[in-house]
Amino acid sequence: MLVGWGGNNGSTVTAALIANKHGLTWETKEGTRSANWYGSLTQSSTVRLGSGPTGEDVYVPLCDLLPMVSPDDLVVDGWDISSANLADAMARAKVLDWNLQQKLRPFMVNMKPRPSIYDPDFIAANQGSRADHVIRGSKWQQVEQLRQDIKDFKKSRDLDQVIMLWTASTERFCDVLPGLNDTADSLLAAIKANASEVSPSTLFAVAAILEGCTYINGSPQNTFVPGCLELAERHGAFIAGDDFKSGQTKLKSVLVDFLVSAGIKPVSIVSYNHLGNNDGKNLSSAKQFRSKEISKSNVVDDMVESNRILYAPGEKPDHCVVIKYVPYVGDSKRAMDEYTSEILMGGHNTLVVHNTCEDSLLASPIILDLALLAELCRRIQFRSLDEPGAGFCSFHPVLSLLSYLSKAPLVPPGTPVVNALAKQRACVENVLKACLGLQPENNMLLEHKLERPLMTGQAAPGTKGASKVNGLVGRPVQNGAVKA
Ligand SMILES: NC(=O)c1ccc[n+]([C@@H]2O[C@H](COP(=O)([O-])OP(=O)(O)OC[C@H]3O[C@@H](n4cnc5c(N)ncnc54)[C@H](O)[C@@H]3O)[C@@H](O)[C@H]2O)c1
Repeated sequence: MLVGWGGNNGSTVTAALIANKHGLTWETKEGTRSANWYGSLTQSSTVRLGSGPTGEDVYVPLCDLLPMVSPDDLVVDGWDISSANLADAMARAKVLDWNLQQKLRPFMVNMKPRPSIYDPDFIAANQGSRADHVIRGSKWQQVEQLRQDIKDFKKSRDLDQVIMLWTASTERFCDVLPGLNDTADSLLAAIKANASEVSPSTLFAVAAILEGCTYINGSPQNTFVPGCLELAERHGAFIAGDDFKSGQTKLKSVLVDFLVSAGIKPVSIVSYNHLGNNDGKNLSSAKQFRSKEISKSNVVDDMVESNRILYAPGEKPDHCVVIKYVPYVGDSKRAMDEYTSEILMGGHNTLVVHNTCEDSLLASPIILDLALLAELCRRIQFRSLDEPGAGFCSFHPVLSLLSYLSKAPLVPPGTPVVNALAKQRACVENVLKACLGLQPENNMLLEHKLERPLMTGQAAPGTKGASKVNGLVGRPVQNGAVKA
C-alpha cells in the first residue's frame, strides 16, 4: 500500500508492475521498447554463486537465490490527498512515453487512491490545490480509518501480507518532545489527544504497526520518532527508511567511498539539483527542503570516520546541497556535483559529475526492491552456533538490511550506520547467500592464487572443509547457521 499512490513515483511503479506483468511493448522514436526492471537490485542484478567445475565464475539473478515474491504477484493499493485515478496520475506525472501510457490506461483508470490525511502544517503550502481527497476527523479517528483500509484491502484481495510504503510528499521535521512522542505510550496518548505536532506520516506508521504491517519511509522526514520506534519493537513490526537512495546520493556513496579508501582526501562536496516535478515544487518550500538537506548531509560520515590518516576526529569535508525548482525540466532531474580532494604533496583533484535522468524511473525499482526484500526478511531467522541452546531469532524491527536502498539509513539504536554502497550491497548479498549455507563473498579468489591448483571439493587453506553444491564449490558456514 503506497502512501502518495497518485504521485510520480506511485503512478510510475504501478505502471511498471503492470507493464512487466503483461509484457507490454510500445513504440518510441528510437524503435520498439519492452518492459523491464532495470535499476532493480532484486530483478536486474546478479550474484556470484561460486566457481564452476573449470574455475569459471557462475552468476545467478539475485532474485533466484531464495524463494522471493515475484513482482507479478504484488497487488497495489494506496492513499493520496489527490483524487485523480492512476491513469490520470500517470499522465500528470509526464514520466512514461505516450504510447506506453495509452496501453496502460485501461489497466489504471479504475485504480483510485483512498482518501488520505492532509495536514497543511506538514507539507508545503503550494500543495493545497491538490488536496481534494481527505480523511476528516480527529487524529485517532484517522488512524482507525487507515487501519480499516488496511484490513479491507487485505481481506478483499486475500493477501498474505501488507507492506506500507510512504512515497508521498516530503514533510517538515516534527519536534521530538518529552511526553509527546518520546515513548510508545506518550505517542499513542498524544494521538488520542489530537496533538498538532504528530505528523500524518507518523499516523500512517502507527496504523501500520498496530496492524502488524511493515512500514517503509521513502522520504526524509522524521516519521520514526522514538515513540514510533518503541511501538514497532513492542508489536514486532518491521520499520525501515529513510528516503530512497536513488541518484545523486547513490553516486556520492560510491565516489566518496572510492576516494577515501584509495587514500585520497575529499575536502569539499557541493551538490546542486534542479527538478521540475511536484516533488521539486514541494521541496521549494524552506521547511520541506530542510528535511531533504538533513537526509542528504550525513551520507559520507562513515567513510570519513573510517580513515584517521586523512581526517582528524570530528573533521569532515565541506558539504553543501542545493535544490531548485525549475518546472520546465519536469521529472528529468539534473544533478551537478563537484568533489574536490587533496592528493599527494598538497595537490588537488576535482571531479565534476553531471547526471540527468527521470527521478521516478530511478525510484520505482527501489520501491519494488524495498517491498520484496522486506517481505523476504519476514521469513528469515538466525541463530549462532556459538550458543547451541539458543533458539532462532528474527531481524530487529528496525530493518537496517534495507540500508542499500535508503539515503539516511535507519538502524537499531546504538548500531553503526553504513552508507557506503558497496558494503550495503555486500550485506544483502551475503545474508542471502548465508541462507543457502554459502560463505560470504570475500573476493580473495584464493583458488586462483595458489602455487598449485586446488582440487574440486578440497578445502582451501584456512577453511575447515568444502562441500559441493550443485556442481559448484561452496564452503560451509563456520560462525553461524541460518534457516529460511
Ligand atoms: N523520485 C526519487 O528519485 C526520490 C528519491 C528520494 C526520495 N523521494 C521522495 O519520494 C516522495 C515522492 O516523490 P514523487 O516524485 O512521487 O512526488 P509527487 O509529489 O509526485 O508525489 C507525492 C504524492 O503524495 C501525495 N501526498 C502528499 N501528502 C500526502 C498525504 N499526507 N497522504 C497521501 N498522499 C499525500 C501528493 O498528492 C502526491 O500525489 C517525495 O517525498 C520525494 O522526496 C523521491
